[in-house]
Amino acid sequence: MTTAKMIVLTTNNDTTSFAHRCTRPLGLVPTMGALHDGHLALVRQAAAENKTVAASIFVNPTQFGPQEDLATYPRDMERDLALLEAEGVGLVYAPSPEEVYPPGFDTWIDPGALGERLEGAARPGHFRGVATVVAKLLNVIGPDRAYFGQKDGQQLAVIRRLGRDLNLGVEIVGVPTVRDHDGLALSSRNAYLSSEQRMVAPVIYRALLAAKELWDSGQCDAGKLRDAARSVMEAEPLLEEIAYVSVADASTLKELDWVEGPAMVSTAARLGKTRLIDNLLLE
Ligand code: PAF
Repeated sequence: MTTAKMIVLTTNNDTTSFAHRCTRPLGLVPTMGALHDGHLALVRQAAAENKTVAASIFVNPTQFGPQEDLATYPRDMERDLALLEAEGVGLVYAPSPEEVYPPGFDTWIDPGALGERLEGAARPGHFRGVATVVAKLLNVIGPDRAYFGQKDGQQLAVIRRLGRDLNLGVEIVGVPTVRDHDGLALSSRNAYLSSEQRMVAPVIYRALLAAKELWDSGQCDAGKLRDAARSVMEAEPLLEEIAYVSVADASTLKELDWVEGPAMVSTAARLGKTRLIDNLLLE
């Protein structure tokens, strides 16, 4: 990995020409900032597998719905840059919204049915925004590999499909979810939880674990796995609105009756105003 001083760039042209001169292979970690240990795990894996690591910091407005938290999404550029520099990152691309979406921008990538299930059903247009911005980040920076967390399992599936369907020529690498001591998956949105909600939040992980343990013991009936997870969550009164409990094919995310190949058990639920998502792979 190169140890030269980190450079922070805000324009597409400067970023593209700097990235083209980097020592290869180049690994990219796209982020929306508010970095936590989950992001740093992506950076560390990218550093272990590439000669240069680039990161992007961009709170992408097009993946937020009108009622969502775009305005209040946590932002701390100075802290994020210090963390990335300490990890030996060589290039940070931190564009303005106008640089990414100039006036007249109107070309979108629609990830199809995969983007309409689960999170896509609750957040219409979300994966169109994600797929479009990720394609743009990959085009501006031109990495050999790009790293995404398994925590956002559907996002990872959408981006893998994007890379394959549009022949982007970038290796998409999924990195295991980083969890707190009590199992809660790290997420920038955990910052919204009150201390009481924070204590309750790991119930989501325990619910997924109940399904996984049942599957580990030989149960392949997806309905029974969903019921096992749902009953753990329903026993927690502070957890409002369980949006879904899914046991789906790991790459198409179509709901399964019977688990035969790689699958993902996932859920989304609301704790106060915070929507929590998590998943475990059954493979
Ligand atoms: O996972 C995220 O932080 C974002 O969805 C991503 C991939 C950086 C696109 O804006």
